[in-house]
Amino acid sequence: MTQQQPRVLSGVQPTGALHLGNWLGAIRNWVDLQDSHDTFFCVVDLHAITVPHDPDRLAEDTLSTAALYLACGIDPARSTVFVQSQVPAHSELCWLLNCVTPLNWLERMIQFKEKALKQGDAVSTGLLDYPVLMAADILLYDADRVPVGDDQKQHLELARDIAQQRINARFAPNPDQPLLKVPEPLILKEGARVMSLTDGRAKMSKSDPNEGSRISLLDPPELITRKIKRAKTDPVLGLEFGNPERPEADNLLSLYALLSGRSREAVAVECAAMGWGQFKPLLAEAAVEALRPLQASYAEWRRDPATLEAVLEQGRQRAQDVAGVTLARVRQALGFLAPGRPDQG
Ligand code: TYM
Repeated sequence: MTQQQPRVLSGVQPTGALHLGNWLGAIRNWVDLQDSHDTFFCVVDLHAITVPHDPDRLAEDTLSTAALYLACGIDPARSTVFVQSQVPAHSELCWLLNCVTPLNWLERMIQFKEKALKQGDAVSTGLLDYPVLMAADILLYDADRVPVGDDQKQHLELARDIAQQRINARFAPNPDQPLLKVPEPLILKEGARVMSLTDGRAKMSKSDPNEGSRISLLDPPELITRKIKRAKTDPVLGLEFGNPERPEADNLLSLYALLSGRSREAVAVECAAMGWGQFKPLLAEAAVEALRPLQASYAEWRRDPATLEAVLEQGRQRAQDVAGVTLARVRQALGFLAPGRPDQG
């Protein structure tokens, strides 16, 4: 980890159990980036309260999400792993960005519109503001790249627009010295959009009320097998990629390739003439085997809460140091009175 390495920041909300989409679309890709980037991974607990939440579960879900990062291969010796709410600069920069972000930019956000539809009158201001908080998360760390799944693309564009048009263009002392780095999204082709097991046209999601629609990373083998057995199929013989009439075939075959670690070409040939009854046990086996080491490592991290907390404390300190510098720069550019030094009475 040297200063010259480009920086990466990403995060997952601690809302319920993380699933295959979170892993294949995001966390699994973070692991390799550790070799070439200065990596920051936060558990975005402030985002988790933008929809109604259970206070008795928030801390536990936060710890379990952090433990899953580590179990997936995030190495605390190379990455900064921390909890968003423990670095107050996130909330403060969010407020500063709120005051320069046009409301209609937020009203356009697809995820807001989708989630707001589900909630009727109960929609919180926080849900609307969610992408500004996400922009603050990223911009505080001068992140060069943000590895996310496809559904976060629009939020990333918003973060770029806020940095470029609302902060740098208006407040940077000169164009050669931008105040905030404009981040690039990093969305891999494969795994960026894992679909539901019960509807190949809907995204796999934590908020789907049907548990059978997703495989959670901590599901035991029998449950994984049962969910795959019940996954939606079609009456056609043989699996194939890319047929728009067969979204379930495309999704499950893609999962098989990703989970077995084999190429798409190889699995396409292997499964071209296979019936669903023959294919599903293969997919279940691949999922169970891919998750086995992760689940074992997760159990180990949870057996040692002191070490997990030490990792998060070390992460908090480093995150705070980096975020504090950016926040001070923005505060100064926006014209705030600098806090007095204690020795000045
Ligand atoms: P969240 O918690 O919904 O999802 C975490 C990550 O998982 C990806 N993802 C998927 N990828 C493929 N297929 C799916 N079905 C699928 N479902 C989720 C998401 O794209 C994401 O990368 N707003 C973010 C969290 C966030 C964040 C940030 C991310 C807050 N601040 C700063 C990056 C940088 C979110 O709700 O992700």
